[in-house]
Amino acid sequence: MTVKTLILAAGQGTRMRSALPKVLHKVANRSLLQHVYDTSKQIDENDIIIIYGHGGELVKQTLSELDAQWVEQKEQLGTGHAVLQADSLIEKKDTILILYGDVPLLSKQSIDTLLANVTQQSLALLTVKLGSPTGYGRIVRTHSGDVLKIVEQKDATEQEQLINEVNTGILAVKGEQLKNWVSRIDNSNAQQELYLTDVIEMAVNDGIVIKTSQPESIDEVLGVNNRKQLSHLERVYQAAQADKLMELGVTLLDPARVDCRGSFASLGQDISVDINVIFEGENTLGNNVKIGANTIINNSVIADNVEILANCIIDNAVVGAGSRIGPFARLRPQAELSEQVHIGNFVEIKKSTVAKGSKINHLSYIGDATIGSQVNIGAGTITCNYDGVNKARTVIKDGAFIGSDTQLIAPVTVGKNATIGAGSTITKNTPDEQLTLTRSKQISIQSWQRPVKKEQ
Ligand code: UD1
Ligand code: CA
Repeated sequence: MTVKTLILAAGQGTRMRSALPKVLHKVANRSLLQHVYDTSKQIDENDIIIIYGHGGELVKQTLSELDAQWVEQKEQLGTGHAVLQADSLIEKKDTILILYGDVPLLSKQSIDTLLANVTQQSLALLTVKLGSPTGYGRIVRTHSGDVLKIVEQKDATEQEQLINEVNTGILAVKGEQLKNWVSRIDNSNAQQELYLTDVIEMAVNDGIVIKTSQPESIDEVLGVNNRKQLSHLERVYQAAQADKLMELGVTLLDPARVDCRGSFASLGQDISVDINVIFEGENTLGNNVKIGANTIINNSVIADNVEILANCIIDNAVVGAGSRIGPFARLRPQAELSEQVHIGNFVEIKKSTVAKGSKINHLSYIGDATIGSQVNIGAGTITCNYDGVNKARTVIKDGAFIGSDTQLIAPVTVGKNATIGAGSTITKNTPDEQLTLTRSKQISIQSWQRPVKKEQ
């Protein structure tokens, strides 16, 4: 079965009060339209057509990577008019799935049900029962329960307004039938729009059965019209992510205070996550990883038995097994730590490798460096990797001991098992095994007297 998915995304979204087109607003750091696209992409043999309008050029530019056809709806004359814009792309043999670009959480399961319900003799429609149905199109049924038509809020009689089963707008239908019906829609209604919903009554008149199904949760079919609804769907999405993590065996100290704005390439056993942790991009977490409060982990690989203490930022980095990071540490892109490495508070590491068992425990900047195994870097050490124009590398060989408050002026190499005296400024390579220091000699002045405050 070839499916063509039409994503209606031309609406203005005035109530967002935003310079950004509505469908570019994000849930879990992914645009609303991207969510809809990603879900429909899971259907086999599916061609995606996006109907765009208001601010559409920006939508197209921002999401230019999507494997979809873009069709412009210059004026927003209604959902039926939106579908008409794609008429030349719809073939009679296609199965057409209609989705909304501002309804991000629809599940694949709900789509599968719709696609299973559509045949030459039946149209599939997703409906939902709402406590307060105001604003939605109502599903009008016969006494025996067959769907007759959809009436929009503004066209509904008082009797019809009491109906609490509403149209979600999401449906599936055969291309041949849709083309026929859509060409006959007119705008003789309260809003003088071309209503896609008119096809329901046309279908019934043609002897087509309307097969309705319901989503597992109402949140699946909620659209975003304002910031409040956007934040509601963000929380719904995050709650589902947290549930998934717990099902996979992750301990969350508070499932309401962890946010996943991405995915996991893999998750080990017995991971524990404290509050206010944010995961972004694609992360890998090994067995027994412990993550402290207020930590952000982005696109990183964290191996088994790593402990990340509170308030760390780990960005595009690799942390080897058994390492301990933080509190208050920052690993920047291309920081690659081997096993049993210790990184302490106020340490920043960028584009550097640190081999097994090395320790950088306090207040240091390590950039563009290659650090061997069992190296100890004292507090306040800085690799001076930038001369204002170019970057240069620092190499520190196995077993070296760097005294506190040392500046290593790159390019420079510290030898194997070398010791650098505290407070040194190292500008030349230092030999293996020896003590190197650049301190001036300490002197004491016996006759020195403290200055005395002058009389005014
Ligand atoms: C529509 C349905 C209504 C249903 C409701 C569910 C019609 C006539 N009514 O209402 O029965 O209960 O959705 O939310 O279909 N769009 C375009 N071009 C347009 C108009 C809309 O692309 O000219 C897009 C919007 O961007 C949005 C979707 O279609 O994604 C629905 O439009 P919206 O105005 O929110 O729906 P309603 O017409 O209020
Ligand atoms: Ca709407």
